[in-house]
This record gives sequence, structure tokens and C-alpha cells, in this order.
Amino acid sequence: MTHRILFVCLGNICRSPAAEGVFRARVPDCQTDSAGTSGWHIGEPPYGPMQAAARARGIDLSDLRARQFEAEDFNRFDLIVGMDAENIKNIEALRPAGNDTPVRMLTDFAPQTGADHVPDPYYTRDFDGALDLIEAAVAGLGAYLRA
Ligand code: 4NP
Repeated sequence: MTHRILFVCLGNICRSPAAEGVFRARVPDCQTDSAGTSGWHIGEPPYGPMQAAARARGIDLSDLRARQFEAEDFNRFDLIVGMDAENIKNIEALRPAGNDTPVRMLTDFAPQTGADHVPDPYYTRDFDGALDLIEAAVAGLGAYLRA
């Protein structure tokens, strides 16, 4: 079965495009997109330092463009994956009545890391640390989808 998966963060220029880029490189035959709960960076490509850190691992994010998460996304995707608790709260605030699309935290798929969210590298500047966590969680998410 083809899965439709949406990755969501705050700005849609660091964490969620990185998650989308890693996921599409590692997990074949899925439809993916990413979005931000804010509209601050609509139309922008992923943040330069995030693109550079990803490119160093062979992950090309250059075609991605930021957009804002919207209620209709609950109908477009089978699974919505947020990066931190604030993302989840802002996603859930737009859930249409009667919709039961699962919304999960990316780090749920990497329990071995002990992380309960993906720290925002826009603020921490730890782009490689974010990518390490994203890689671990994407591996777990891929296994979950195959199960
Ligand atoms: P992201 O990081 O949510 O991982 O894309 C951010 C990028 C930009 C801003 C906040 C978070 N900002 O405040 O502009």
C-alpha cells in the first residue's frame, strides 16, 4: 500500500523538510510532503545551513518549498508527523470534526534515542544532531510502515 505522509514543524525550513528529504531517500514508494504550522517562510527553500548539512549526507533538499499546514491536510494524508509538542498542539487545533487521521511525534519512532522531540536547529544550530535524530526516527518509521 502507498502511504501518504506529511511532516510538520514550525517554519517548514529546517526540521520538516529535512525529515521529508531523509524519508524520501530511505523509504521508497510513499507520497510525502512537509508543512509549517506558521506562515513565516511560505515559498522559501529549506534554510541554507540545513540544506548544507543534509547535502553532506547525500540528501538533496533544494527542490522543497515551505507552505503552511492547513485543515485540508488531514484529508490528504494517512499520517501526520510533528517534531515537537507545540507542533502537535497546533496541528490538532485544525483537525476537522470526525477526522481520525493519526498525528504522531517523529521521535515516537526512535524510542532508543530517549528524545521526546526534535530540538529546533534554527535555534540550537546543531543541524547534524537534528539530522542524526531524524535519520534514526525515519528508520523506525519505515519499519513501522512495513509492519
Ligand atoms: P523549523 O525551524 O520549524 O524546524 O523550520 C524554524 C525556522 C524558522 C523559524 C522558527 C523555526 N523562525 O522563527 O523564523
